[in-house]
Amino acid sequence: MTVCEYKPGLEGIPAAQSSISFVDGQQGILEYRGIRIEELAEKSTFLETAYLLIWGALPTQEELAEFETEIRYHRRIKYRIRDMMKCFPETGHPMDALQASAAALGLFYSRRALDNPAYIRKAVVRLLAKIPTMVAAFQLMRKGNDPVQPRDDLGYAANFLYMLNEREPDPFAAKVFDACLTLHAEQTMNASTFSARVTASTLTDPYAVVASAVGTLAGPLHGGANEEVIEMLEEIGSVENVRPYLEELFRTKAKIMGFGHRVYKVKDPRATILQGLAEQLFAKYGDDQHYDIAVELEKAIEEKLGHRGIYPNVDFYSGLVYRKLGIPTDLFTPIFAIARVAGWLAHWKEQLGENRIFRPTQIYTGDHQVDYIPITERG
Ligand code: CMC
Repeated sequence: MTVCEYKPGLEGIPAAQSSISFVDGQQGILEYRGIRIEELAEKSTFLETAYLLIWGALPTQEELAEFETEIRYHRRIKYRIRDMMKCFPETGHPMDALQASAAALGLFYSRRALDNPAYIRKAVVRLLAKIPTMVAAFQLMRKGNDPVQPRDDLGYAANFLYMLNEREPDPFAAKVFDACLTLHAEQTMNASTFSARVTASTLTDPYAVVASAVGTLAGPLHGGANEEVIEMLEEIGSVENVRPYLEELFRTKAKIMGFGHRVYKVKDPRATILQGLAEQLFAKYGDDQHYDIAVELEKAIEEKLGHRGIYPNVDFYSGLVYRKLGIPTDLFTPIFAIARVAGWLAHWKEQLGENRIFRPTQIYTGDHQVDYIPITERG
């Protein structure tokens, strides 16, 4: 066997052959099944995009209608899942609640039939349908309220905002939120997708696949960055403070949240679209006091770090959009997860089609032939 050079973080090492999405990090291009993200964000819907990602082609009108109906039908969660979630501490992070709830679905729908297309379809539908309900239910229950039932007359994005805020959203807000879900649905071999594929390769159930990916997405170097961006903008506090704040970050060599990417060396195309959506929301619903700070920060970082390919990533402007939609900061990453379930499931399905268990190697750096010292003789 050829011994490969060790690459920390597996940088540049292909972990799969995939036809789901494509990124050109030098030109700032992202495509789902060959279709540019800009086009999907403008013309498609999240559920149509999820169908595209998972089944490989845009659905016909009948196929989409059937898929949407199935999703509507499966949006409710069992009362025992709700009761379990009621016992979660209200101070717990919603990503931890989501990971536990996603894993718990496996207790209720445990029959595993990975070679049966009907089982795969049902699992896809259940996960896409129930994850938003679980995120909204935890949000209401941690405030001491009962969760609200999903509404069958509302679309996917509008229903989520309704379950979260207990009132029907403005159609424009729902449309913007739906576009955000489309933008976050898939992004090649990122950490959580890799995690999903590794878990999938053991032929475990899809609920475990999604739960493992949720846990991976939660970290601040991945999906958790969107939450930290808002905290950073609040800490900066004013446009005048952007450059002194940045100098301090450089001095302490701290990472600037929402900037940099393993693949993109220009501005992430999703950040550009999200910035546009944020501006549309501000025009309709009023300004955000931190937007000018964000723009100034982007300018200052481009001057200082642009030559090293460090630009805004998807997490930089998404928080400002979500905040304008009335979403609390610690739900930003669960919302990322709601969208990314589509990508994880597409990779789960693709992995099953050509499965071989992931079992990389390592470069051992420890000792050999070490004597066992009895505990009484250890210094
Ligand atoms: N702020 C300051 N310096 C940075 C940043 C940043 N945000 N990102 C990269 N760098 C520097 C880094 O210090 C390193 O410098 P040097 O070569 O002198 O040691 C160089 O650029 C390469 O960085 P790296 O951390 O080795 O790059 P990576 O590909 O391993 O990490 C990253 C990519 C996204 C984890 C990193 O850019 C980062 O930590 N960014 C901040 C967190 C963030 O916004 N995460 C969201 C990622 S995009 C959406 C998602 O995946 O969820």
